[in-house]
Amino acid sequence: MTHILAVCNQKGGVGKTQTTISLGAALADAGATVLLVDFDPQGHLTEAVGLRDLYLDTGPALYDALLDPARHDITTLIRQTAAEQFSVIPTTYKMALADKALYMAHGREERLKDLLAGVPREVEWVLIDCPPELNNLTDNALYAARRALVPIQAETSSVRALELLFDQIESIRRGLKIEVEIAAIVPNLVEHVKLSGRILDELRASLPAVTPFEVPKRQVVREAWDAGRSIFTYKPSEKAKREDRDELIAIYRDLAALVRARVADPVAGGVA
Ligand SMILES: Nc1ncnc2c1ncn2[C@@H]1O[C@H](COP(=O)(O)OP(=O)(O)O)[C@@H](O)[C@H]1O
Ligand SMILES: [Mg+2]
Repeated sequence: MTHILAVCNQKGGVGKTQTTISLGAALADAGATVLLVDFDPQGHLTEAVGLRDLYLDTGPALYDALLDPARHDITTLIRQTAAEQFSVIPTTYKMALADKALYMAHGREERLKDLLAGVPREVEWVLIDCPPELNNLTDNALYAARRALVPIQAETSSVRALELLFDQIESIRRGLKIEVEIAAIVPNLVEHVKLSGRILDELRASLPAVTPFEVPKRQVVREAWDAGRSIFTYKPSEKAKREDRDELIAIYRDLAALVRARVADPVAGGVA
C-alpha cells in the first residue's frame, strides 16, 4: 500500500524541504521504498539531493504531466539519486507556470492524485515537498495525500501561519468534501531559548499532533544540503559535526517511527 504525505506550511524557511528529505531518508533507511516529489517550483529539493542539472531539463516534466495527466506516465519522471536510497520526481523551471496554468483547468485539484495513481505498487511512501504558498499546487498535494506533515518554527509568527494553514485545510475539507488529517507537526530549527520553549509547551498543550521531540538547528544540515546529500549519507570530517549528524539521524528515525505508527498503523499509533 502506498501512503502519501504532503509536507506543507505556507511559511517559507521552516524546513519543509529538509524534513521531506530527512524523513524520506529515514523511512528508506528502515527498509521502505520511498519516492520524494519536488512540488515547489523553486526546485530546492531537486537541488539538495544532487539533481540540480535536472532543474533546467527541457524534456517532458512534472509540469507537463500535471497539465495533461492522461498523456503522461508518472513512472517516466522518477529519477534515482547518486547516493540516496529514495527516488525523486524532480521539478523543473517550467513549474513556475503551473499554479496559473492550473487555475483555469477542469478538475484542477485532482491532477496530482490522478498522476500518483500510476506510481508503482512497491512504493510505500510518497512525500510531497510543497511550495511556501496556499495555491493550486498545495491544494493538489493535500488532495492527493489527505495527510499533512507540518514543519514549524517555534516562534510567534509561526503560530499565525499555522492558523492560516488550518483555515486552508478546513476550506479544502468543505470545498472538496474530503478529510485532511494532520499526521504530525514537527518543530524545526529549534534553538534552546526560553521563548521557543514556552511556545512549544503551549503548542503541545493545544495540538496533540505536535511531536514530543523537536529538531534542533544544526550547521551540518546546511552542509549536507550544499553537498547534495541527505544527513543519512553525508559524512562530515569534523567529529563534532558527525555527532550533530548522528543526533539528527536519531531524531529522524524517531519521526519515521512516529509517522509509520500514526499513518500506516493508525489504530496503534493514533494521535492521542
Ligand atoms: N534543523 C535545521 N538546522 C539547520 N538548518 C536547517 C534546519 N532545517 C532547515 N535548515 C535550513 O534552513 C533553510 C530553510 O529550510 P527549507 O527546508 O528550505 O525550508 P522550506 O522548505 O520550508 O522553505 C535551508 O537552507 C535548510 O538547509
Ligand atoms: Mg522548500
